[in-house]
Amino acid sequence: MAARKISRVTAEQMDATNSATLQLFKKYCQGDDAMSEGQFAKCCQDSNFADSKFMKNPSLIFAQVKLRNKKTIKHQQFQDALRAISREKEVTYQALVELATTGNLGSMEFEEDFDVQLERSLTHDGSHRVAVEDFDLIKVLGKGSFGKVMLVRRKTTSVLYAMKTLRKAQLIKRNQLVHTKAERNIYQYLKSPFLTHLAYAFQTEFKLYLVLDYCAGGELFFWLQRHRRFSVNRVRLYAAEIVLGLQCLHDNDIVYRDLKPENLLLDSDGHLRLTDFGLSKEGITGAGAQGGTKTFCGTPEYLAPELIQNRGHGKAVDWWSLGTLMYEMLSGLPPFYDQNMQRMYDKILHQPLKFAPRPWSHADYTEVRDLLQKMLNREVEARFGSKGPDEIKQHPFFSVGYMDPGTKSLIDWNWEAVYEKRYTCEFVPPNRDATDTSNFEAEFTSQKPEDSVVNDNMLSETQIEKSRFADFTFTDADSELSRK
Ligand SMILES: Nc1ncnc2c1ncn2[C@@H]1O[C@H](COP(=O)(O)OP(=O)(O)O)[C@@H](O)[C@H]1O
Ligand SMILES: [Mg+2]
Repeated sequence: MAARKISRVTAEQMDATNSATLQLFKKYCQGDDAMSEGQFAKCCQDSNFADSKFMKNPSLIFAQVKLRNKKTIKHQQFQDALRAISREKEVTYQALVELATTGNLGSMEFEEDFDVQLERSLTHDGSHRVAVEDFDLIKVLGKGSFGKVMLVRRKTTSVLYAMKTLRKAQLIKRNQLVHTKAERNIYQYLKSPFLTHLAYAFQTEFKLYLVLDYCAGGELFFWLQRHRRFSVNRVRLYAAEIVLGLQCLHDNDIVYRDLKPENLLLDSDGHLRLTDFGLSKEGITGAGAQGGTKTFCGTPEYLAPELIQNRGHGKAVDWWSLGTLMYEMLSGLPPFYDQNMQRMYDKILHQPLKFAPRPWSHADYTEVRDLLQKMLNREVEARFGSKGPDEIKQHPFFSVGYMDPGTKSLIDWNWEAVYEKRYTCEFVPPNRDATDTSNFEAEFTSQKPEDSVVNDNMLSETQIEKSRFADFTFTDADSELSRK
């Protein structure tokens, strides 16, 4: 995909830059003592093609070459390929980038890595390149921080999807390219019945499009508002499904960081899926500061104490958020809720966990009270979940069993049955027909579904370059973001 993102260099620029560019590439590849990034950049500046968009950002090309070299392209192969193309008359910028990114040029075959193959299969459907024109836009489902989400139908197959658009200018302005890369990777690579998956991804100059499995039941938030609170049995299955979703993320060293009712979607049978990995962070190995990260982000109500205090955080923040969410599902409000955000933070940090007589004193709540005490432990290492999800999964709250809503009889708890979605959900969202969107807010569904034209020409050249390489990370510039 990387190669296809780059196409805008005018013919004049190409003529002026081809030979000099090739020289640089050659130089870079000569011998084993390859040029350093600094030397490469200097070389580019010294050359007389400073006007070229391509050369304005040599470090991008450098990083790509380096990355691909290290990953799959053998040094010698790369060098040979450069020699071959420099002999050809029609060397294009596109060809160079194609080479730098995939190692694949015309008859020269290189091993393509998995990443590239997968990307191709996502943007291509046979020989057809998937684009926004391939979909009927049916309804607006939601508005995100960077664009909107629409219900769409693939014209050729009639399959329904949710299409999430992200405006590049917004992402760049708020320094979210790194997060977006993680987001796309998670949708794409992680497979779990409790995570939302990507069917297609493509982009235009100004926007990114993620085409996702459609969850027809709407947000858990929508239903929590309407039902005020849920039964213990209903929360048991919801919590279990979220545990399995988080487990898949954590097993892959990803911390989710945005667990909240708005980001949990119901499918047509009422089962849950986590969505919106915009704040997720890859490469997290620990429960707390060690093997963790530092960026302050998330949604106030669900923030773990260590995040508020900026002490460094890891996977355990997700278990805190789940504790908070379970409390909210059972009683209607998060445990430390306050309309004043500062006071809410203060409560999260200091207020003892309270269980009002209603509903908490009822016998059905005994086990879950105990579990919540353990998940809402402010001490990270002692918090349930910090030693892995089994602590939570083995808690008596689950072993009570699941009450089948049809027969009203208690079934033995079985995590495999949860994973395979063999338990019938207590609540099945009403869907009159496949494209009925009454499970979503009318505020959105009443809007005209259209792919708005944006012309973010306030983007600088460097920014445009950057956004074309959205799936390459050069700095780990994790940035601040607090939503809503
Ligand atoms: N796969 C989907 N199926 C149905 N609705 C979706 C889907 N993905 C997103 N939505 C709707 O769009 C909203 C915003 O999407 P989200 O990915 O959470 O964006 P943001 O990062 O801006 O919060 C969601 O809360 C939900 O209502
Ligand atoms: Mg969201």
